Amino acid sequence: MLVKVAVFISGGGSNLQSLIDKQQHYQVSLVISDKKDAKGLERGENHGIPSIYIGKDNYPDKEARAQEILSLLQSHGIEYIALAGYLSIVSDSIIQAFPNKIINIHPSLIPSFCGMGYHGHHVHQAVYDSGVKLTGATVHFVNEMVDGGAIIAQESVAVGQTDSPDIIGRKVLKIEHRLFPHVLNQLTAGKIKIEGKRTYLQED
Ligand code: GRF
Repeated sequence: MLVKVAVFISGGGSNLQSLIDKQQHYQVSLVISDKKDAKGLERGENHGIPSIYIGKDNYPDKEARAQEILSLLQSHGIEYIALAGYLSIVSDSIIQAFPNKIINIHPSLIPSFCGMGYHGHHVHQAVYDSGVKLTGATVHFVNEMVDGGAIIAQESVAVGQTDSPDIIGRKVLKIEHRLFPHVLNQLTAGKIKIEGKRTYLQED
């Protein structure tokens, strides 16, 4: 029986697509977007996955939004949640209902270039402006602190001296599309253990 996973999105859904394409130990069984026009909703629908907009337009009240999301997660038998470019803050009630079962992909090497305001292109612009020679992507557990959960995996890439922020973003996105499904397969296969802020991969 494959482990049922929900993917939360806000935009194009290229990470959602890679999670769908590379599922082995898990099955993407629900897509939730906080943006009504997110292209990722179409990607879910194209694969016959229930893909639902839940945002300020149809659930203006924050608590009601969280309750509706929780009810959908339960009715779809979801065991893990993957945040794939999801821009809203996940409510505490959802985090508490899914302890160490929510992961996020962040397009930098946390703890650098993360926290409030560091999302999407803003991250790569800050990397460019800072002059660092390495950047990359991080998959981490989600807790109540934005980008503050225990780190599970990271992969780095060189920042070329002629790289623009867009080029940097493209290099990092390629890593994301590989790293995120890889980690989600390990997590849903029960291979990742967490102790405080440290995580351990159990070899076969
Ligand atoms: C991208 O900036 C990616 O780096 C980050 O979220 C954004 C969404 O990408 N993880 P997509 O919607 O998965 O294409």
